[in-house]
Amino acid sequence: MRTFSTESVPQETLEELRRVLVCEDQGPFGNRCRFGLIDSSLHPQLDLGSLSSYGVIKNPYGYLVGAVQKGDRSLVDYGYLFQRILLEATRLGLGTCWLGGTFRPEKVASLFPLESGEIIPAVSPFGIPAEKRSIVDGFLRWGASSKLRKPWGQLFYDASGHSLKEGDIPLVQDGLEAVRLAPSAMNRQPWRVVIEGQKAHFFLDTKEDRKSPVRFTELDLGIAMYHFEAVLREEGTKGKWEFDPPRTSYGHPEWEYIASWLLRGEGE
Ligand SMILES: Cc1cc2nc3c(=O)[nH]c(=O)nc-3n(C[C@H](O)[C@H](O)[C@H](O)COP(=O)(O)O)c2cc1C
Repeated sequence: MRTFSTESVPQETLEELRRVLVCEDQGPFGNRCRFGLIDSSLHPQLDLGSLSSYGVIKNPYGYLVGAVQKGDRSLVDYGYLFQRILLEATRLGLGTCWLGGTFRPEKVASLFPLESGEIIPAVSPFGIPAEKRSIVDGFLRWGASSKLRKPWGQLFYDASGHSLKEGDIPLVQDGLEAVRLAPSAMNRQPWRVVIEGQKAHFFLDTKEDRKSPVRFTELDLGIAMYHFEAVLREEGTKGKWEFDPPRTSYGHPEWEYIASWLLRGEGE
């Protein structure tokens, strides 16, 4: 959502959102992230439009922001934790939009001061969704082929390298569909998942990498991991993340291993 209504966000919604920001600060790789909320009503002199570039974001009530130390897989952790926050914001009736490229980090840092070694990988405007999308919003969504997602066969595989179809593995069916529907920078959908026995191995297809100061594909993988875990947990399917690289890249040397979800049976 890039266009918001001019309505204010109710105080109790903001309070709930603030609680979500502090409830977990470590992702699956153990990196700590800090999150904050820029509330326009506390900065009446501030032009919030100036936080995003190209006039892409219309009438945001505020911004959800965050920072992480540069480090091994810290972007995956940031993607994972920030998506959890954005899904909770959505549950509270708010609109959000990941912004990795089209925001001004120095402006955000003037309101959310950074500690030494930290970066702001991405932020999100939030507010009450507008009834109608603006023309710029519609254009950007069209440009990024927003409604389109890759089919199952291009994203999910079995251990012999054959594509999976919907319905092949009922236990993780909904989790994989949530990966497929996840947002990703420029809608590049870099996630690849191989199901082998009790494990779902998550890979990043490096062909989808683009040169940029922040490696967006790692954020995308964190988002997809959160979607997968959240759906499985909601359905009562137990499991945990582990880092246990399989000995093969399943015929795809361009895939970079990220992590595996280990399904656990009852009582384990
Ligand atoms: C890590 C990340 C960075 C993104 N950066 C931007 C951005 O800078 N500007 C923007 O307008 N949209 C940005 N997006 C939104 C994507 O373009 C959008 O999620 C994708 O095109 C799919 O569209 P949909 O989520 O509306 O289905 C970003 C999304 C992600 C996950």
